[in-house]
Amino acid sequence: MWGLKGWAAVIGAVGLSVVAAGLAGPAPRAVAKPPGSMEFCKIYPNAHVCAASPVVNCTTCHTVPPARNLFGEQVAANLAPGAARPLSDADYIAALPAALKAVEALDADGDGVSNLAELIAGSQPELSSSQPTSAGCTPGQARTAAAGRWNTCGYDPAHAYRKVTLDVCGRSPTRAETEAFRRLLPNESAWRGALSDRLDQCLRTPYWLGVNGVLWNLANAKISPVDSIKAGPRAGSIPLADYEWDYNLFAWLNTGDRDVRGLLTGQDFVKRVSDSPPTFEPVPEEGMRGLRQAGQTVPREKRAGMITTRWFTTVNTMFTPIPRTTAAAAYRQYLGLDLARMQGLHPAVSEPADYDAKGVAAPACAVCHSTLDPLTYPFTRYDGIIRNNYNPNRLKNFVRTDGPRVVEAPEAGEIFGQKVANLMEWSQVAANSDAFAQKVVWDYWKLMVGREPGPADQTEFTLMWKGLKAQDKFNYRTERMLHALVLTEAYGRP
Ligand code: HEC
Ligand code: HEC
Repeated sequence: MWGLKGWAAVIGAVGLSVVAAGLAGPAPRAVAKPPGSMEFCKIYPNAHVCAASPVVNCTTCHTVPPARNLFGEQVAANLAPGAARPLSDADYIAALPAALKAVEALDADGDGVSNLAELIAGSQPELSSSQPTSAGCTPGQARTAAAGRWNTCGYDPAHAYRKVTLDVCGRSPTRAETEAFRRLLPNESAWRGALSDRLDQCLRTPYWLGVNGVLWNLANAKISPVDSIKAGPRAGSIPLADYEWDYNLFAWLNTGDRDVRGLLTGQDFVKRVSDSPPTFEPVPEEGMRGLRQAGQTVPREKRAGMITTRWFTTVNTMFTPIPRTTAAAAYRQYLGLDLARMQGLHPAVSEPADYDAKGVAAPACAVCHSTLDPLTYPFTRYDGIIRNNYNPNRLKNFVRTDGPRVVEAPEAGEIFGQKVANLMEWSQVAANSDAFAQKVVWDYWKLMVGREPGPADQTEFTLMWKGLKAQDKFNYRTERMLHALVLTEAYGRP
């Protein structure tokens, strides 16, 4: 029942691409051309789409691959004109930069803005209703605005102070607080200090950090709680696992001087000691015994943060030998890449090998599964429902249901084109990737600013995720990043 949503997406995508392939005419065989997605950001590192992910969506050039959108049509027309089709991947990659260059000054959707200007700004070159928005105010507007009560043409500290109190403490500032803050405005270091203090106080409130608080809700999309199978306190009718541990770990790793990469690499389990004020502490390993299905069973050295918890493997792996849903969930939730929408494709050579005989090697499936299956192998040694443990011989249990070759599936796999021996290595590569830092900031940006980072936000968004990675900046401490986020124009501009 938990897999239904994913399946609907897959069936939708497969159905569409089969239809599109049918329309594309007498192609000798369906040749995947996903490299376009990876080459694009090498050619246009400053394009807006490349700030969020180094791999652009196929829809930059296609409607549904291989069908092309208006921009993709112009690229195709300029791609190695006259050369025999289909092009090899190497010939395609070699010809792509010149083809893109040739269409930069053209205007595929006829909206008066060139393809290049749209790509850089982040609007869609193939859609006339999508045009770059201009963020700046004219100097005249800026002067008038600065004189008003709220500065609508730039960062307004009083607005930011009010917003932090609302967003993070869950209340409006009192009139006395607001007036005291306004008195500091002539002195930049004074108002910055007061804003930072306010944020620090708010970050420790139950409103932010408590049960059902803001951070708890931020984790909902990753944890997907289902009450009927909850174990532990307030158990459901079929208690299988307790998601409260997952919320605790998420909140703990997102507070104080803790490295948020622990979401993928951490080995602690964390208890909520109190909710007012919210306080957490790691549980000693001996303390884990006796919790049974409410606790955690994977040995410490085989844990990978949120993606090996009892809850995560229960709802995602369930009883599958090659748990593709689990790998796709980790990729989507922690790296922001949705394979069902063909994001983050890094096809591996000779994959998918289809050890469990699901038919994924067919060309229409291999487009995604040449990335997804090797991404999944490191999860194959982790049991789902009931056992929830690391078991090197796990696949033996599936020969009867999934065929004799299932035991040949390796534990080694591939992520972002990099070979990894097991899930420990997988999670290190994932946690250190740009995609991880971008996803962490993306989630907070949406939460705090109230919308996804848009074309006008590119500079500030990039500063935030690069800062998250930099040792001398936020060093993977999300609270440090938040102190900078509330100083961005995106946050503090009324
Ligand atoms: C930068 C633009 C661009 C991006 C991004 C892009 N493609 Fe393409 N794609 C093209 C062009 C141009 C062609 C036509 C190639 C030709 O004429 O040989 C094409 C062709 C294809 C074909 C047909 C291959 C053939 O030889 O018949 C498939 C399938 C395809 N792309 C899939 C994808 C997928 C899947 C993605 C995303 C992972 C993607 N493309 C991303 C530009 C792009
Ligand atoms: C658009 C990319 C894409 C295409 C094309 C695709 N898949 Fe998948 N497939 C996925 C993703 C992603 C998942 C993981 C489920 C999820 O989270 O959406 C998945 C999961 C699966 C699973 C595991 C389901 C489970 O519950 O464990 C099977 C089996 C599968 N796909 C078979 C196929 C077959 C057969 C085809 C071709 C007919 C195909 N897929 C085409 C992306 C794709």
